[in-house]
Amino acid sequence: MNDKNRLSALRDKINFHLHRYHVLNAPLIDNAAYDVLYQKLLAIEAAHPEWITADSPSQRAGTAPVSNFEKVTHPAPILSLSNAFNANDLRAWREKLEQHMPSPDMKLAYVAEPKIDGLTVVLTYENGRFTQGATRGNGEIGENITANLRTIRALPQRIPIVPDSDLAVPETLVVRGEAFFPLDKFEALNNLRLDAGKAPYMNPRNAAAGSLRQLDSTVTAKRPLTLYCYDIITWNGGDVPTSQWERLKWLAALGFPISPDIVFCPDLEAAAAAYGRWGALRNKINYEVDGVVIKIDDQPLAASLGFVGKDPRGAVAMKFPAQEKQTRLLDVTVNVGRTGILAPTAVLAPIELGGVTVRNATLHNYDEIARKDIRIGDMVTIKRAGDVIPYVIAPVPDLRDGTEQVIGKPAICPVCGETAVQPDGEVAIYCENVSCPEQLARRVEYFANRAAMNINGFGEKTAVLLTEVGLIHDIADVYSLKSEELLALERFKEKKVQNLLEGVKESKAQPAERLLTALGIRFVGSSVAALLLGAMGSIDNIAHATQEELEAIDGIGPGTASSVIDWFKREKNQTIVEKFRAAKLRFTTEKEERSDSVRPLADTIFVITGTLPTLSRADAKKMIESNGGKVTGSVSGKTTHLLAGEKAGSKLAKAEKLEVTVLNEAEFLAIIESPVTPSLPKAVQGSLF
Ligand code: IVH
Repeated sequence: MNDKNRLSALRDKINFHLHRYHVLNAPLIDNAAYDVLYQKLLAIEAAHPEWITADSPSQRAGTAPVSNFEKVTHPAPILSLSNAFNANDLRAWREKLEQHMPSPDMKLAYVAEPKIDGLTVVLTYENGRFTQGATRGNGEIGENITANLRTIRALPQRIPIVPDSDLAVPETLVVRGEAFFPLDKFEALNNLRLDAGKAPYMNPRNAAAGSLRQLDSTVTAKRPLTLYCYDIITWNGGDVPTSQWERLKWLAALGFPISPDIVFCPDLEAAAAAYGRWGALRNKINYEVDGVVIKIDDQPLAASLGFVGKDPRGAVAMKFPAQEKQTRLLDVTVNVGRTGILAPTAVLAPIELGGVTVRNATLHNYDEIARKDIRIGDMVTIKRAGDVIPYVIAPVPDLRDGTEQVIGKPAICPVCGETAVQPDGEVAIYCENVSCPEQLARRVEYFANRAAMNINGFGEKTAVLLTEVGLIHDIADVYSLKSEELLALERFKEKKVQNLLEGVKESKAQPAERLLTALGIRFVGSSVAALLLGAMGSIDNIAHATQEELEAIDGIGPGTASSVIDWFKREKNQTIVEKFRAAKLRFTTEKEERSDSVRPLADTIFVITGTLPTLSRADAKKMIESNGGKVTGSVSGKTTHLLAGEKAGSKLAKAEKLEVTVLNEAEFLAIIESPVTPSLPKAVQGSLF
């Protein structure tokens, strides 16, 4: 196979594995194996930039920024739907159809699909390749956001996704889908934005829209957007199934992400029942759903029924009751976060919303309060989506009676009394006292939480109590807690103390990625921690890295790099790190810890010479190092291998004299392609992306 074919096969292979991971949730290889494939692709592309194609997985990281989005005309109008709100409306919709049907008593089947509250995207595939992605715009003309959409890992760049599949694909296929922001990632994004002094997104839909409308697609690439497809707009040169149910199955087989929650409904009662079931489910899933779309399964029949305005007759959106309600804003309290941010929190007259009683809601920040002119005593509209903390949308000024009070920015930290500061250009206000007891309690709580060290039985209350009574002065003190000290505390009985200390002990085995996350360094959440460790191998290497070295890691920007450097520079933090070392926590990644047998170049010392056919020297060096070997500049008695290309001169001669193993590029690649280890736990795999 020549290198060009090799690259094309690699592209297909990587795209196939991305699909297994991001669409099917069923990865076949672990992240180390994925990384080997991806590094190989990067190496060949670095040597032959002219071979880089738009559908290369490397382009998923984003490409050069644009100054504006071009307009594109959709091949057919991008329609919307009429609404229904209950089973009666649904029956009325069905009855109205009768006048347009070939015979009124025709038995119809339906498909019920979740109505995702995201952003419509229109995806064009030509000869199996994704060539254009657009927003809905006004339904006729949208904006070309192809580069941004390419960064969505769930979007197939080529169909069929399995290269040797015998599924026939129309020459042109235009598919409609909904891009959305997973709810669990939404809060994390907002926390990061707040940390960076930026305004948070108001809801997951805005976060999706904001992410897709970035002129710089490398920014979009860092957002965990995903996608479900649900409609075929047009096709040309081939056939598509006539049943909606079959269409969705066909689209899934081609590689499109399809909601796993669609239901085939043999009659209207089944459709109404699906709506009922979804109403109960909507708060348990990881994306925002605002209704259920009921579609006639027979698509040619549906199309023949025509439209009312922009709404096709053949489908209807059964909306859920809005999860928005009004209640009174009784007070605003200030929460001190672990980074010192003073976050305003609404105290509300308790109200039932989507099955839970809401008493508090986030007000985001003080600039937002001022912008919306929210006052204490106002009736405010609050909204809840999934398990995301409810938030205040806006006040209802018309309901004011004049007794409402304007909310001022805090001048001091309500806990320690330190002067509050709002740095220039930031929306956040901070307590800058690093010894503020509330900040410490939050840092300890964060350290122990599920996404970090995951210490069983160590929640918010424990963190507050143990810092208050002075048993914990910094996060590392978690590992010096003693049972007699704990037993002396009120409500800490034998069993509870035993469980807590057991949980603390078990957490020592957590992977280094979790420890790095748990340190609570600004901008270093779990995915950044995984990126940093993936590149540097250990927390010590990260602690000693320079700004340039950190910035050289794909996905690490200057802000994160300097935040990491600042954290490790502080003496107090160095003491913390040493305490963790003494407690024998893990500082090194599993990959580094794995036995030499899976690190094909462990204990080797390479010298590279001459011009290699596809790899640049820098890439070859990276590949050697990431497989456990070392690279030096000159051949000596210690050298174990010489990687030699064309015009290898004196180094080759010297190596031959010293009987050093000489490899050409193909032999070298064959060694590092050797089989990799069995699957890692899912959490570790997730860190790759
Ligand atoms: S069908 C003619 N199916 O809801 C086809 N729409 O007003 C019209 N949506 O703007 C769309 N999930 O963005 C359809 N499974 C689904 C959907 C869905 C979400 C959105 C879509 C549209 C709005 C309907």
